[in-house]
Amino acid sequence: MANTLIFGGSGKVARHITRLLAAEGHNVYSIIRKPEQQDDVKSLGGKPILQSIEDSSVDDMVKTIKETKPSTIIWAAGAGGGSPDRTKAVDNEGAIRSMDATAKAGLTKRYIIISAVDVRDRENKPEPEWYNDGDRDRSNKVWNAIGPYMSAKLTADTSLVTQNSRRGLEYTIVRPGGLSQDPATGKVAAGKVHLNNMIPREDVAAFVVEVLKNDGTKGLAIDVVGGETPIRDAVAEVVRGKVDTFEGRY
Ligand SMILES: NC(=O)c1ccc[n+]([C@@H]2O[C@H](COP(=O)([O-])OP(=O)(O)OC[C@H]3O[C@@H](n4cnc5c(N)ncnc54)[C@H](OP(=O)(O)O)[C@@H]3O)[C@@H](O)[C@H]2O)c1
Repeated sequence: MANTLIFGGSGKVARHITRLLAAEGHNVYSIIRKPEQQDDVKSLGGKPILQSIEDSSVDDMVKTIKETKPSTIIWAAGAGGGSPDRTKAVDNEGAIRSMDATAKAGLTKRYIIISAVDVRDRENKPEPEWYNDGDRDRSNKVWNAIGPYMSAKLTADTSLVTQNSRRGLEYTIVRPGGLSQDPATGKVAAGKVHLNNMIPREDVAAFVVEVLKNDGTKGLAIDVVGGETPIRDAVAEVVRGKVDTFEGRY
């Protein structure tokens, strides 16, 4: 039976991932920080571990990884974009410590992080060539509204990619568009997508589970929004074309 460890296991996407993986027989270990969330995680089939990411050192995280022996580590945490300080502590520094801890623990290389579409170095790198006026407008609005959050994700994702000769992880960056609480559709658009389509969190979770199953996603950064392609086919198409939407933009 596979063990999976989720950082931020009480999150709305993470809870769907927990339910889906537990139904497939995974042991899902779930790092959460609030004791009152334990029963909920258990009811989804997860095994809660009380540990605050922002208060955990790399070695604290290594200890958890060694205790849970995961074959896959999933980063689904986030401070929610409200406080810039907490955003830096969780989405940037906490995520990077989880990458270092995965490498240092040495038990698994497989690391999947949930980031966001349009995370990129807007100052120094060219705009994605498939962007249209709607994408440009959306990008400006999001970066103006939650710039520190987007920058925190950029720093973490850049570390994941540029420091990988040191860490040696088999990573995938999943970059969803705006998230909704709508029920799953089982269909998405992935790869070089436009930014304005929302995606249900349940579909993001199913997409992450499919990424976990498809080894061809290792080393890729994949944008995903609402669409019409069944999730398995969408992942397979991205893998076939080796479509990486972060490359050249950090
Ligand atoms: N909202 C969007 O439209 C959007 C778009 C693209 C990407 N994303 C990203 O997608 C990911 C998943 O989104 P979501 O809606 O599932 O987010 P969410 O419900 O806010 O989940 C994030 C989880 O991280 C946990 N967390 C925060 N700080 C922590 C800490 N110090 N220790 C342990 N856990 C901590 C939170 O726990 P608490 O309950 O304890 O706070 C929360 O459960 C996030 O990284 C988000 O940034 C969001």
